[in-house]
Amino acid sequence: MSYHLDAIAPHGGQLVNRIATPEQRQEFLSKADFLPRVQLDERAVSDLQMIAIGGFSPLTGFMNQEDYNRVVTEMRLANGSVWAIPVTLSVEEEVAASLKEGGFIRLDNSAGEYIGVLELTQKYSYDKSREAINVYRTDDSNHPGVQVLYNQEPIHLAGDVLLLQRDPHPFFPKYQIDPVTSRQMFGEKGWKTIVGFQTRNPIHRAHEYIQKCALEIVDGLFLHPLVGATKEDDIPADVRMRCYEILLDGYYPKDRVILAINPSAMRYAGPREAIFHALIRKNYGCTHFIVGRDHAGVGNYYGTYDAQYIFDEFQPEELGIVPMKFEHAFYCTRTQQMATSKTSPSSPEERIHLSGTKVREMLRRGELPPPEFSRPEVAAELARAMQVPLPV
Ligand code: ADX
Repeated sequence: MSYHLDAIAPHGGQLVNRIATPEQRQEFLSKADFLPRVQLDERAVSDLQMIAIGGFSPLTGFMNQEDYNRVVTEMRLANGSVWAIPVTLSVEEEVAASLKEGGFIRLDNSAGEYIGVLELTQKYSYDKSREAINVYRTDDSNHPGVQVLYNQEPIHLAGDVLLLQRDPHPFFPKYQIDPVTSRQMFGEKGWKTIVGFQTRNPIHRAHEYIQKCALEIVDGLFLHPLVGATKEDDIPADVRMRCYEILLDGYYPKDRVILAINPSAMRYAGPREAIFHALIRKNYGCTHFIVGRDHAGVGNYYGTYDAQYIFDEFQPEELGIVPMKFEHAFYCTRTQQMATSKTSPSSPEERIHLSGTKVREMLRRGELPPPEFSRPEVAAELARAMQVPLPV
């Protein structure tokens, strides 16, 4: 079909598929009781799924030492292709010692269900503070990504994986659109240029503004909220998805937007994660990717536009997806519309700045975000979910 010819190539050229065939599944299920077991945490389960569906192409498994080292120090895989975030599986030393390279390992989720296999090719130790400083630009254990890293076990297991079965998402089955399907949908819609949008916060008007500015330029908008593990105080994914549904209903052209979940876990690695997020969306078939203010940032660890500057460290063709960079958007009371300093002459007092953090703080104080901040329907949904009493 013609759309395959037009579609953007996945990172590394080929969409990885590590979902077991029915035969492989049968074979590995029959070996269930004979394989050594490793239990995965929530992030590792997400990573396994992302590898299996091709969202992390060209990765076919958890990283070996060569890939890991080069990713940490140079943002490249051993073969030179760009990759900004380690994707690793860690276990305790005793567990590692009991596992043999060359063998298969049964991967269980936290409920003890057998969900995948790893063909173990390598075990290696790693330097957590080196990873923290390089990837997160800090070794402060208050940083939520660094905290996860410091809590990891000391030995990495490397090797190709297989996901035994691609189950429908328990909460968002309708929005579980894997890369192979999103690519097909883009083709069927005849979209040649598609902008991907990463988010972990409830949609507010700055999000809407930058999405729509981007949509003025490209054919389609791929709204791709992250539903994997986030930090404790982030708004839960089901609430965020409902906000999206509500907003899409009344405020977006249905035929130009696709809403789908991104099953990955959040790292909060700011600039490096912006690259990672862009490459994931390239794998889903996006040609463009939105990077706004403090993308994937947390606290004050990163400069407002660091996640944009990092794209300049690579040649456009080695990324293969075009970043669409947006300045800090605000509601301008002078012109009574959303704007940035590029488009509004307003003074600082005329600017209402919004962010996911501010929305969360207001809700926690029992306040409703104002209409300059969130659309009223979204504010009402957030208030309901967070049990904030609505004004009569
Ligand atoms: S993120 O961790 O997923 O980046 P969030 O959901 O808040 O957090 O942001 C999604 C995208 O919108 C990111 O690209 C971010 O930079 C951008 N963004 C969020 N708020 C603003 C704003 N006020 N102005 C410009 N861009 C913004």
